[in-house]
Amino acid sequence: MNITVIGTGYVGLVSGVCFSEIGNNVICVDNNPDKVALLREGNVPIYEPGLKELMNANMKAGRLSFTEEIGEAINRSDIIIIAVGTPSLPNGEANLSYVELVAKQIGSHIDSYKIIMTKSTVPVGTNDRIQEWISSLTQHPFDMASVPEFLREGTAVKDTLYPDRIVIGTASERAVATLKELHQPLTDQIITTDIRSAEMIKYASNAFLATKISFINEISNICEKVGADVSRVAEGMGYDKRIGSSFLKAGIGYGGSCFPKDTQALIQIAGNVDYDFKLLKSVVEVNKDQRFNVIRKLEEALDVLDGKPIAVWGLAFKPDTDDVRDAPAIEIIQRLLDQGATVKAYDPIATENFRKEVDSPAITWASSAMEAARDAHALCVLTEWKEFMEVDLAELAAHMDQPILIDGRNIYEEDQIKDTPFQYYSVGRPG
Ligand code: NAD
Ligand code: UGA
Repeated sequence: MNITVIGTGYVGLVSGVCFSEIGNNVICVDNNPDKVALLREGNVPIYEPGLKELMNANMKAGRLSFTEEIGEAINRSDIIIIAVGTPSLPNGEANLSYVELVAKQIGSHIDSYKIIMTKSTVPVGTNDRIQEWISSLTQHPFDMASVPEFLREGTAVKDTLYPDRIVIGTASERAVATLKELHQPLTDQIITTDIRSAEMIKYASNAFLATKISFINEISNICEKVGADVSRVAEGMGYDKRIGSSFLKAGIGYGGSCFPKDTQALIQIAGNVDYDFKLLKSVVEVNKDQRFNVIRKLEEALDVLDGKPIAVWGLAFKPDTDDVRDAPAIEIIQRLLDQGATVKAYDPIATENFRKEVDSPAITWASSAMEAARDAHALCVLTEWKEFMEVDLAELAAHMDQPILIDGRNIYEEDQIKDTPFQYYSVGRPG
């Protein structure tokens, strides 16, 4: 099939590459000329394991190309995929201005029947608005479909090539048939539904996963007070198939470009129809506070933070990505600076992006984990990068001024710590 993907961020680029990998001709459009130039040279602007190799192979095979020229791309395609951002507005609502602009661009260029497939996460009812925006500018026929994206950063290629399910929301039988054919090579688990239900499936899925995380984080806080071990609790719960073992890792709360914005957006969607989504509001509140447990534990260990050098390992919101959007490390480091500490920070790949969010003369950007830890009065682990799990803890302790370790992601086990000099604080486990 001939496909245009509009927006080459995490979703658009990975989708475009994967649709070309399964034999389609894909044109990826972006209005950022620097991005398009980089992509044309075979370089990937984001860190995503496996993406660069797959992208270059498909460019070489002549199935994948990049352009800024949206009109020409639309004319050459049967399916147009909208994959631009829908970030939060200050009130928590989704900002639909990028989607609206793209819809209007489609409306002014469409020249024959097309299927318009929305992958951007958009509030319920938005695809109807997209239909109106396009229709206001053209007489040409087209069908709308909401096909939400469920990939995770860090495993985006695998998630796209081997999805748990594909949801196709559309009122058009013609679109169902074509989109089923498009996705069939990826999975047999294809759910067809109406547009609004598809839009809601996306928000409900992210909100449910966020709820699991806040739930286990609250359990971890209680575990700390009653002397239970949240890792064992999660394991014991997870064997129940009705509960499932995933998304029960206690830590410093969820971050990233989606859970924080999508939970806020769903609260707004509910509010707009006079429904008070109390449960989800609590999920968000719990998540906001959870990250500051790191600071509370530091205060318990060091009393005052003023003037003390604190090492921070991990700036990305999760491992295997350089994305720092809504990363818990942002607020934790800001709080450390507010309390007068100096920070020595290290991340294997996210430092450059992080410095665009937070920078200060009180932060030293280390080029290795050990360098960040040197002479620190305490070390906080904020992202569970594999290389942190493999360090020699005795050597680490020897590098530090005081061997105090706040493990915000529970990356070390008790038997790794017990023969070291570390004063060790983890999440929801007996200390
Ligand atoms: P992103 O911000 O990384 O990328 C969006 C891209 O769209 C940018 O490259 C931007 O230059 C481009 N763009 C904006 N307006 C354009 C226009 N008029 N024409 C051409 N290009 C344009 O976004 P993302 O993280 O890929 O997310 C995209 C959508 O997918 C969001 O709605 C998000 O909620 C959803 N989503 C994201 C993920 C994820 O893991 N990041 C997963 C599932 C769903
Ligand atoms: C999440 C969803 O998992 C994807 O299905 C969805 O497509 C995507 O949001 C989206 O809509 O953008 P992502 O944000 O890439 O994907 O990463 P996750 O692996 O879900 O992690 C999100 C956050 O939750 C991270 O900060 C992570 O550290 C935290 N988390 C995750 C926990 O604290 N505990 C867990 O058990 C799992």
